[in-house]
Amino acid sequence: MPAITRVLTGITTSGTPHLGNYVGAVRPAVAASRRAGVESFYFLADYHALIKTTDPLRVQRSTLEIAATWLACGLDPERVWFYRQSDIPEIPELTWLLTCIVAKGLLNRAHAYKAAVDRNTQEHQDPDAGINAGLYMYPVLMAADILMFKAHSVPVGRDQVQHIEMARDIAMRFNHLYGGEYFVLPEAAIEAHVATLPGLDGRKMSKSYDNTIALFAPADQLKKQIAGIVTDSRLPGEPKECDNSTVFTLYQAFASAEETTAMRAAFADGIGWGDAKQTLFERIDAELAPARERYQQLLDRPAHIEAILHAGAAKARALASPFMRELRAAVGLRSLLTSASSDGDNGKRKAAKPGFKQYRESDGQFYFKLVNDDGRVLLHSAAHDSPRSAGQCIAQLRNHAGTGLLQVDARTVKRGGAVIGELGEMATLDDVVAALMRLAE
Ligand code: TRP
Repeated sequence: MPAITRVLTGITTSGTPHLGNYVGAVRPAVAASRRAGVESFYFLADYHALIKTTDPLRVQRSTLEIAATWLACGLDPERVWFYRQSDIPEIPELTWLLTCIVAKGLLNRAHAYKAAVDRNTQEHQDPDAGINAGLYMYPVLMAADILMFKAHSVPVGRDQVQHIEMARDIAMRFNHLYGGEYFVLPEAAIEAHVATLPGLDGRKMSKSYDNTIALFAPADQLKKQIAGIVTDSRLPGEPKECDNSTVFTLYQAFASAEETTAMRAAFADGIGWGDAKQTLFERIDAELAPARERYQQLLDRPAHIEAILHAGAAKARALASPFMRELRAAVGLRSLLTSASSDGDNGKRKAAKPGFKQYRESDGQFYFKLVNDDGRVLLHSAAHDSPRSAGQCIAQLRNHAGTGLLQVDARTVKRGGAVIGELGEMATLDDVVAALMRLAE
């Protein structure tokens, strides 16, 4: 059985896509969607947009622009799940179920909310002045986006990592409270070297700082924006620092390793800022020009985009509707004719599923077994020096739902170079993967 990784990401439809969105989200997501063994979910987070703006035209225009962006950047709607969040009524429905189990204190600690409160406090205002409850609930809506489709991996910028951790917390809590493996625990995936781009002023590129470079601006405008990047005042011939330079960081986000090395050398040799910016412009333009043309063509065909989104919604709802029915039943929103006794002791559902058992051996080390629902031991773990380490290994196996496992000899199973354990007497690697996938269901 092939092991599939589900990747999901969304972009809020409140603005025009900028280079930061492209490098941090769209480009890596489109690349990932082409890999074998990956199922990709991309969506337009228009419910999230309503938290940021009450301008209907802006939401609509942005939805068009962002849909056109992803398609222009090579997204194949046949291959992936590409939809508009507000076309999936199961998302707000799940948001409510999650709202009822999330700790309010968890939401109090969300960075975006806390930052807004801190600003108010500094300005001697009421702590919640001007903050809508949507901002407060943002992480729950986002958790619903992710958990609805059982995503394993969520490509986001660093600023969103906390939201993914919250989605995990919420998923674990729900699974625990309702006694089943309903939700997959998602992980954030950050492109290591260019997770967040700096903007024109050197701060993080963000609409809220008004320092963005538009993704598909005409070439002359792109050139002008790049010319406006803030630099230090070193003259041509003076060596320049790469590491805090916006020009260098942007270049690196588009260049190959060799090109980056060459640029690093040019900085050390004192390349002038004008020349560095010209090279930066040419590099970015070379990558974006073909997509820019496709983008313009798509903007002229909104009916075509609308049709693609409708088809995407149908495809997404084919998963969301049955799952939502299962979740409704799990929490007790179900027919009066359903017998509660089928749920076990306290009205909670207990499906026969494979499971992990942790234990300590006489050698003082910690181990776990993966036991199939028929009682067969599928996997004996390698030794761990703490229960925590064993637990982490289990969490990793669960999250990856069997992806990346490798059998290196008759019995040994590895993942990413590390020995996970040995297959059970009567088990094959396929049994292990199948069990992990069932656990992730
Ligand atoms: N909060 C994300 C952003 O601002 C957008 C988003 C909404 C999202 N729901 C999501 C991203 C689910 C990943 C997964 O960039």
